[in-house]
Amino acid sequence: TTLDLDPEAYEAGEHASYMRKEMLEQPEAARRVVSGRLDKRFATAHLGGLNLDARETREIQRVKVLGCGSAYYVGQMGALLIEELARIPADAEAASEFRYRDPVIEPDTLYVAVSQSGETIDTLLAVQEVRRKGGRCIGLVNVVGSAIARECDGGLYLHAGPEVAVASTKALTTMFLGFALLALQLGRVRDLSIADGRRLIAGLEALPEQVEAVLAQEDALAETARELAKAESLFFVGRVRGFPVAREGAQKFKEISYRHAEAYQTSELKHGPLALISPAVPTVAIVPDDELTDRNVGALHEIAARGGPLVVVTHEGLDLGGLPATRIDVPRNEKELDPILLTIPLQVLAYHAALHLGHDIDKPRNLAKSVTVE
Ligand code: G6P
Repeated sequence: TTLDLDPEAYEAGEHASYMRKEMLEQPEAARRVVSGRLDKRFATAHLGGLNLDARETREIQRVKVLGCGSAYYVGQMGALLIEELARIPADAEAASEFRYRDPVIEPDTLYVAVSQSGETIDTLLAVQEVRRKGGRCIGLVNVVGSAIARECDGGLYLHAGPEVAVASTKALTTMFLGFALLALQLGRVRDLSIADGRRLIAGLEALPEQVEAVLAQEDALAETARELAKAESLFFVGRVRGFPVAREGAQKFKEISYRHAEAYQTSELKHGPLALISPAVPTVAIVPDDELTDRNVGALHEIAARGGPLVVVTHEGLDLGGLPATRIDVPRNEKELDPILLTIPLQVLAYHAALHLGHDIDKPRNLAKSVTVE
């Protein structure tokens, strides 16, 4: 590949932006966050800073993830990973809502705060609410020694390195992998088999190169992005593992291209949004090779039948049954790890749409990198 992953060698040019630099740093960041944290002998992860022993881990009845913006969407991906691998009921909630609804804090729930900056005020106050009521909260945080990191009972640092662009990329990738490590460790103390543990470890090890392979498709993605940038309004759709991917994809797109981008569950299209589908409204659909592929493809035929342009982010070699669509392929990994590989092309699409429209990539209007005041 021709990717320049050395930040020191980064030079201003036509494509100069921190966002692009940080996108290209993702393979390296993905290596760093798992580095030294995998235990092949017991097919588990070792996260020394969680401050959770095996007995406490077995007593967890529920996991609640708290974060804002993109961190909240990755939190949704993470909650699903924990539920799938550790078989603990888990969900994510916007920290900005959680702290205002006088939440019931349960002693056997593990709260997980997720934040790049570690300074987002809504997430920080959510952590304080949990701890004030006697709950246990761990943090997945990038910035060492930040307010959220200090407030938590334990956690893990993401080692993404400094992130400057408002639109988060490499920090999100390390958040996802942080959740994968957490889910693996919780799972292996509970009922995840050694075979599944090994399967996940192999997947985690293969991932950085696969991220690199997706980034290497930049030219083709830029062409698709320029097409999408023509639309005033777009849908991003996915379901289950693909739904937080769609949410994050829509978020990135609207943040920097200023186009209206709305995420929806593919399964819910027929309950409303189909009314908006027309040749002027493209849909970016997340269609991994999984137990829902046929249903996804069926729903997308409904869009095609109404003349809605389709871009499908899918797995290499997957048969989409003659669906008329611009196709974006990502490599196959373990299905639990799909969300992150499916997210990468959506970053590149948002970036090239914004670049084409001539926007300030790193400092989108009205937004701040971290929101530290109420
Ligand atoms: C701001 C940024 C988002 C980010 C969110 C959470 O709204 O614009 O890109 O996802 O804060 O930031 P954090 O530092 O807590 O991850």
